[in-house]
Amino acid sequence: MRSILHRVARALGSDARITVMTGAGVSAASGVPTFRGADGLWKDFRVDDLATPQAFTRNPRAVWEWYDWRRQAIAGCQPNAAHHVLASWSLRFPRFTLITQNVDGLHERAGASDVLRLHGSIWDVGCWNQCAGSPHRWRDDSVPFPVLPPSCPHCGGPLRPGVVWFGELLDSEVVDRSLDATRCDVFFTVGTSAIVYPAAGFLDHARSHGAMTVEINPEATPASSTVDVVVPERAELALPELDATLGAHPLALTTERLRLEPLLPRHVEAAHQLWTHPEVRRYLWDDRIIPRETAEEVARASAADFARHRFGLWLVYGHEESGMPVGFCGLRTDGVGPGPELLFGLYPTYWGRGFAQEASRAVLAHAFTTLRLPRVTAATDAPNERSARTLSAIGMRFDRRAEHNGLDTLFYSIDLRR
Ligand code: APR
Repeated sequence: MRSILHRVARALGSDARITVMTGAGVSAASGVPTFRGADGLWKDFRVDDLATPQAFTRNPRAVWEWYDWRRQAIAGCQPNAAHHVLASWSLRFPRFTLITQNVDGLHERAGASDVLRLHGSIWDVGCWNQCAGSPHRWRDDSVPFPVLPPSCPHCGGPLRPGVVWFGELLDSEVVDRSLDATRCDVFFTVGTSAIVYPAAGFLDHARSHGAMTVEINPEATPASSTVDVVVPERAELALPELDATLGAHPLALTTERLRLEPLLPRHVEAAHQLWTHPEVRRYLWDDRIIPRETAEEVARASAADFARHRFGLWLVYGHEESGMPVGFCGLRTDGVGPGPELLFGLYPTYWGRGFAQEASRAVLAHAFTTLRLPRVTAATDAPNERSARTLSAIGMRFDRRAEHNGLDTLFYSIDLRR
C-alpha cells in the first residue's frame, strides 16, 4: 500500500494539473444516507421513482418529504478526513479541479472552493414554474421546510430541489469544465461505482489525454481494470495517508506558535521580538509602504493590538528555505466576527509575488483543515492592486475598509457559512 501511494505522490508535483472526481463513497464515513436503502424503498415509494420530474408532477409533496428528510439527515453530518484532504488540496495545488456527483455539499463545508457539482446541490432550490422573477437556482438552508412543498417567493408556485433528476440534462457549463479538467496529469476517481455517465466517461477522457489514472475504492468497480493505479482502501483512510506521503506544505507554518489566552507579558514581548526581528525590520524599513518611523514603533502598535483583540492563538509563518518570517496569523476570539476567525497578513513586500499566493493558500488550508475554522480574514495595510489580486486569486472577497493600527487597511474574508 505504502509503495502504491508513493508512486502516486511522486506524480503530484506543485505544478501538476490534478483532477479528482468523487461519488457517494467519499461521504460514506460521514454517515450521509445512501441514495437507495437496502430494499430500494422510502416509505412506500421506489426511490428511483421519486427522483424524476414526472414524480414531482404527480406528487410534489411526496418528493419533497424525501428530500426534506435527506436534507435534515445531511445537516447533522460532518465532513470526514477525505473531504478535509481534498479541501486542502484545492488550496495547495494551483491547478486542481474537484468534480463531484454528490449533492450533499460536504466538500464545500470542508472548505473546498469552486467544486464542479455534476448533479447539483440538495441545498439549492429553483422555481418549478421557472418564473421570470426568480433566478435559475438559489441556496436555501431551511431544515425542515415549514410547509411542503415550499413555495417560490416570487410567483408562489412550488419550489423544486436543485438537484439533477433522472431524465434531466446536466448543466452544460459544468460538464464542459469537467471535460476540460480531464486534460490533466493525474486523474482520481474516488468512492464512485463509476457506472453513471457522463461521470464514468471522464476517466476514459483523462486516460486518452495521457493522465495517470488512480482509483480509490475498497470495492472493485468497472474502472478498476482500466486505471493505472488501484488503491483498494476507504477514501477517509487512503487520502490522509497519501497527503502525509506528500510531506509538509512548501510553506511551514510553525516558526512560532503561542497560546495567548490570557495574554501574558511574555507574549507581548514575543510580538515585540518578531516585529524587531532584523529581517522583518529590513523589509518594513526598505519597503516604505508602512508610514512609520521605525520598526520598533510598529512593534509597539502591534503588541498593543494583540492585547486589545485578545488573540487566542498567534503564529508566525516563515519561508521554509530561508526560515525568514513573512507574515502572521491570529485567532480572534473577541467577537469581532460571528465566531472565532483567523486574521492574517503578509509583510508588504511580499504581496503580488507568486510567493504571496502560496503563503495565503497555506494559511487557508491550515485554518480550514487543522483549526477547522469557518471564517478567515486577511488584512492588508498595503491596499493596492497586488494584494487585491493575490487574495481574489485564492477566492477571498473584499469585506471592508477600516483603520487598523492607524493604517488604512483592507479586509478580505472567506466565510464557509455563507
Ligand atoms: N471510501 C471509498 N469508496 C467507498 C467507501 C469509502 N469509505 N464506501 C463505499 N465506497 C464505494 C463503493 O464501493 C461504491 O463503489 O463508493 C461507491 C458508491 O457507489 P454508488 O452508490 O453507485 O454512488 P455513485 O457512484 O456516487 O453514484 C453515482 O448515481 O445514485 C445515483 O445520482 C446518484 O450521484 C449518484 C450517482
